[in-house]
Amino acid sequence: MLSHDILIVGGGLAGLSAALSSDPSLSVAVISKVHPLRSHSVAAQGGINAALGNNPDGKDDNWERHAFDTIKGSDYLADQDTAELMCQEASLTIYELEHLGVPFSRFPGGVIAQRPFGGAGFPRTCYAADRTGLVILHTLYEQSVRQNVRFYNEWLVTQLVVKDGRCLGVVVYDLENAEFIPVQAKAVVFATGGYGRVYMKTTNAFINHGSGIGAAYRAGVPLKDLEFVQFHPTSLLGKNILITEGARGEGGYLVNNKGRRFMEDYAPQSMELSPRDIVARAIQTEIDKGNGYESQYVHLDIRHLGAEKIKKRLPGIREICINFAGLDPIDTPIPIQPAQHYSMGGIDVDKNCASAVEGFYAAGECACVSVHGANRLGGNSLLDTVVFGKIAGKKISEYVRGANGVTDSEKNLLDAALKFKNRVEGWRKKDSGEKFHILMGRLKALMNEKVGLFRNKNELAHCLETIQELREAYEHVYISGPCLRFSQELVNIIEYESMLDLAEVITLGALNRDETRGSHYRLDFEKRNDEEWLKHTLITWQEGKPQISYKDVFIGKYQPAERKY
Ligand code: FUM
Repeated sequence: MLSHDILIVGGGLAGLSAALSSDPSLSVAVISKVHPLRSHSVAAQGGINAALGNNPDGKDDNWERHAFDTIKGSDYLADQDTAELMCQEASLTIYELEHLGVPFSRFPGGVIAQRPFGGAGFPRTCYAADRTGLVILHTLYEQSVRQNVRFYNEWLVTQLVVKDGRCLGVVVYDLENAEFIPVQAKAVVFATGGYGRVYMKTTNAFINHGSGIGAAYRAGVPLKDLEFVQFHPTSLLGKNILITEGARGEGGYLVNNKGRRFMEDYAPQSMELSPRDIVARAIQTEIDKGNGYESQYVHLDIRHLGAEKIKKRLPGIREICINFAGLDPIDTPIPIQPAQHYSMGGIDVDKNCASAVEGFYAAGECACVSVHGANRLGGNSLLDTVVFGKIAGKKISEYVRGANGVTDSEKNLLDAALKFKNRVEGWRKKDSGEKFHILMGRLKALMNEKVGLFRNKNELAHCLETIQELREAYEHVYISGPCLRFSQELVNIIEYESMLDLAEVITLGALNRDETRGSHYRLDFEKRNDEEWLKHTLITWQEGKPQISYKDVFIGKYQPAERKY
């Protein structure tokens, strides 16, 4: 049986950071659903935060200010010790990336350039034009190849195999050969990214169905704070491709159909550079009030930045607008609307990235180490992936060096793989039933409509009922295509189970949380309620049902206060 000391699932920034920081004397492998360079990290545009103080307006910045902005931005749901850890590590992390070869943009004089981002007291977002994720991902991939990390690409993880509270390995689906393969490991890290495609309108890649988070959940690992879903304020109308916050960081305006910079009504001090939850709600409110265009969008206007700055700092945005909207932002405003972008919640892990299951770790967007709380600040996600990916690699190596073997591990893994094989046979035997793509479309539309920017009890309860109906319909799906090799139909049918699970966890968490906090806005409970709700939601799959519980938030030196911007 295929076996490794450390198995990392996911080839994006968190996965590659974990691979690079793992002990090279151990056998380390990365499993990825796509070629690592096609991981969704490649789409990150605007930058990565660290209090370097390189911008002339950021000379007084330091890691404590970064930590305070992160905690305030989180609406005080972040665990303050982990948020501080991330911000303390940030500057060193940037210099390490620089030394590995990341071509950051520079200010005249040569220091790494930094631009303002939302919710930040100082301009601290380091960038490479508007392709920051791409250049970091390429650099870490080159370094992983150099370090002889073993890659298994186009393998989809279908099951995390756990016995008696200990992780034994995973079952994967090899897309090319249409086979289920058990893989034994002393320890596993999930770095599988987010679930954006559970929503109809999302900036996420088509690969982001949340299959890793779903597999962890079904193996009994608790999920934390999944009701906190980030909607990015500015996605391109129609395609919902990300239009980076960097466009506002460089000075772009949000304008309604009256030609007004409407953010002055919502956050008069920080205007377009307020945290994302506030800006996204403001845009949607303008649209709902009839102040948008065609009841769908407002304008992001960057024309005043001038052609030279747009070509230099925002070349990717210009290319996207030309190719996907047929307009050049140098002379035409960009039509934008909010879209799902990021998950603040995820697999419950501690600050060492360790979960409740022995030998199972998680890092990056699929994990909730709890640095973003109820709302993440732009530029903190790349930082989270690299900092906690690195920590996961180190901690898992320490664990593996002390770990004992497990008896019967092979048998359990083989049984699990066989179960999946039989399941697929069942789907193939049928020649009629429910068409999965119709069910998938219904789920995505439902989530957009009922568990979006504004929520209320009735709609959330209705959503849970409909998810139950979709679960029943899922029992009747079938595979219509004759060939399983590279079958997207099969991959999506497998992943649909996780999509249903995550939709249920998001909705249940949102229904129970009778307050408004960060990205979670309840029209029937419009105030934050620290007395009852300053706590993390945990949802665990027990006996085929989600069980909900809560745990304390770690409060350090920052007492929760009202957020004003
Ligand atoms: O707007 C952006 O460039 C996205 C950045 C982020 O999600 O951190």
